Amino acid sequence: NQPIGFPHRFHFPKTSRKLPQCLIIGVRKCGTRALLEMLNLHPRIQKAAGEVHFFDRDENYNKGLEWYRKKMPHSFRGQITIEKSPSYFVTPEVPERVRAMNSSIKLLLIVREPVTRAISDYTQLRSHAATSILPSLTTSIQQQASQTTSSISRTFEELSILPNGTVNMFYRPLVLSMYHQFILRWLEIFPREQLLLVNGDQLIEDPLSQIRRIEDFLGIERRISQHNFYFNETKGFYCLRTEMGDSKCLRETKGRRHPDVDPKLAIKYTYAYHTLVKQGRIVQPECH
Ligand code: A3P
Repeated sequence: NQPIGFPHRFHFPKTSRKLPQCLIIGVRKCGTRALLEMLNLHPRIQKAAGEVHFFDRDENYNKGLEWYRKKMPHSFRGQITIEKSPSYFVTPEVPERVRAMNSSIKLLLIVREPVTRAISDYTQLRSHAATSILPSLTTSIQQQASQTTSSISRTFEELSILPNGTVNMFYRPLVLSMYHQFILRWLEIFPREQLLLVNGDQLIEDPLSQIRRIEDFLGIERRISQHNFYFNETKGFYCLRTEMGDSKCLRETKGRRHPDVDPKLAIKYTYAYHTLVKQGRIVQPECH
């Protein structure tokens, strides 16, 4: 919506591209996009447009910090640049690489009830798999397509519960919901005060409650208000309203309908998880 005559990539003088002072490190499917878009309503925040994957992909990391900086948006002095790439959370090399860039960086980690997160992950993987087989359906590789179809048509329960009735703790969507084991790596590298845990379930129900905590954590004035959010009945989620009165909801890939899953699965998962902890196969962090 650039005014006529405005160069497409216009930026104000006295702005520059800065390395991020805050990262949303994950967790995938916990509301990372919603969180970034909501924070971007704040006049002191500038967001990187896409997921840059600088710290988790060697081919990007090897290009160096100057490459990363150029991926950042222009910002005024005093503004905070935020980037989000949810795979940072689970990639072992990332915490040390982030510290090497900026040891006082602020980290946001959004989490959600673990089984709901796993179902969201499953729903996304299934929808990607469904799209990726479409081209092959138009070719003669019908057999391959039908195999893929059968794997994606397996229910969440079929993938999560082994034939002997126990939980499949190697099923990736469930593994990624074991937040503790990944958080530990970050807490070995960063002091606890630099990491804020954001409640992703609350972000859906009452976004302002979480945004206020983050404004305080980042040390910026509380500028985002209830006026910036309105509940959209059709989408079933809060959508965003800017100061100028423009409104926007997140894309349809955010807020997908989940399949019905037997609620007993959540209990089974929690039990299996605690058993692993008791057996010392997952270490609990000492801080809260
Ligand atoms: P579902 O699509 O499974 O409901 P991420 O951006 O990390 O991939 O997270 C996607 C999730 O963000 C969605 O998962 C949705 O539940 C959640 N979310 C939180 N607030 C939202 C909002 N205001 N609009 C849409 N999705 C939102």
